[in-house]
Amino acid sequence: MTACAIPNQSDRSVVRLVSGVPDAYRVGAVRIDPPVVLAPMADVTNGAYRRLVKRIAGPGLVVTELISTVALHYRSQKTLNMFDVTEDQRPLAVQLFGADPQIMAEAARIAVCAGADIIDVNMGCWVPKVCKTGAGAAMLRDEDNACRVVEALVRAVDVPVTVKMRAGWDYGHLATAGLARKLEQIGVAAFALHGRFAVQGHSGEADWNLIREMKQALRRPLVGNGDIRSPFDAVRMFQQTGCDGVMIGRAAIGNPWVVRDIVHYLRTGTLLPPPGFEERVQTALIHVCDLARTLGEGRAVRHLRGQLPLYLRGYRGAARVREAIHRAETIRDVEQIFAQARHHLRDEPDPPVWDIGRTPGENVTVPAASRPC
Ligand SMILES: Cc1cc2nc3c(=O)[nH]c(=O)nc-3n(C[C@H](O)[C@H](O)[C@H](O)COP(=O)(O)O)c2cc1C
Repeated sequence: MTACAIPNQSDRSVVRLVSGVPDAYRVGAVRIDPPVVLAPMADVTNGAYRRLVKRIAGPGLVVTELISTVALHYRSQKTLNMFDVTEDQRPLAVQLFGADPQIMAEAARIAVCAGADIIDVNMGCWVPKVCKTGAGAAMLRDEDNACRVVEALVRAVDVPVTVKMRAGWDYGHLATAGLARKLEQIGVAAFALHGRFAVQGHSGEADWNLIREMKQALRRPLVGNGDIRSPFDAVRMFQQTGCDGVMIGRAAIGNPWVVRDIVHYLRTGTLLPPPGFEERVQTALIHVCDLARTLGEGRAVRHLRGQLPLYLRGYRGAARVREAIHRAETIRDVEQIFAQARHHLRDEPDPPVWDIGRTPGENVTVPAASRPC
């Protein structure tokens, strides 16, 4: 890895300082610059969080939580609200799940009308509720239907269609390379590969060799995903796999700064200081206030009980904040808890938002309030 002087950041022609890292990649006509993607995460990447991450970190792409196409078929208002498209998130990918080609095509048209720049198909979710309908990672076991679904989508919309998949259903080799190649022929514009098998859930380590193999098998761009938690992990992902972009999931929950630091490091080869206490608190409050606009105050606070404490992760007294926020009902409660925390934690040194020494494979705790997919 070569890192040198700090370039003028307004100079877009600046040459990458970190070797093996591309400037950007393309999804059809959509340019993803920088080549850093906030992963789709159920109960996490709602509109409020996507806006927040976009503003603080500037990733090249943000993706919605997985959205049920059957629920869209029945025009569920709660599901329609999940689009929450605003200009400041663009480009925005809407991720859909479903196994019925017609219903998927109909949902994709609705998503494009709502403002989606890209339609992403979920072929990675392993939870039984999704897989028993033939959707999510179950599509990896029925390649013919996966192709039918994607073909219907490509025909239905004039925005690019992408696919996020796992390496296969059960442990073994890269079982999905053949499917990905077929999907490429059908017109999929780019792929993301989470380097685990469906049966693994989030256990074990993501195997980046599988991502390298997939990259070699494909002509379209491939985004590498799994266990990226620091700028150095992101660089390693690019260098070890030859991928076109990196996707950050769990490390970014309650932590937009890890994405900010990755974007900044790829652009400049330099590291930023961690955010201070006040910046963390204000960011957490912006998050909950924005979510309250769509969910209402009570639901927003309850929804974020597991995520808000993560903004103060690393301070010695953060456990007390976590306990208190688990009982919060209103934004005023949250403000008061942070005000008390200010009293206790303000003088502590600001902890890093990622660990320099961490290597892929170490466990990350997923907040209880979130549904891993
Ligand atoms: C709470 C949570 C929710 C998730 N929801 C989705 C989802 O809606 N769609 C999807 O394709 N993947 C989902 N995932 C998987 C992530 O997008 C990502 O592939 C996975 O976490 C591996 O990346 P990471 O190691 O950076 O976390 C979810 C993961 C978590 C932890």
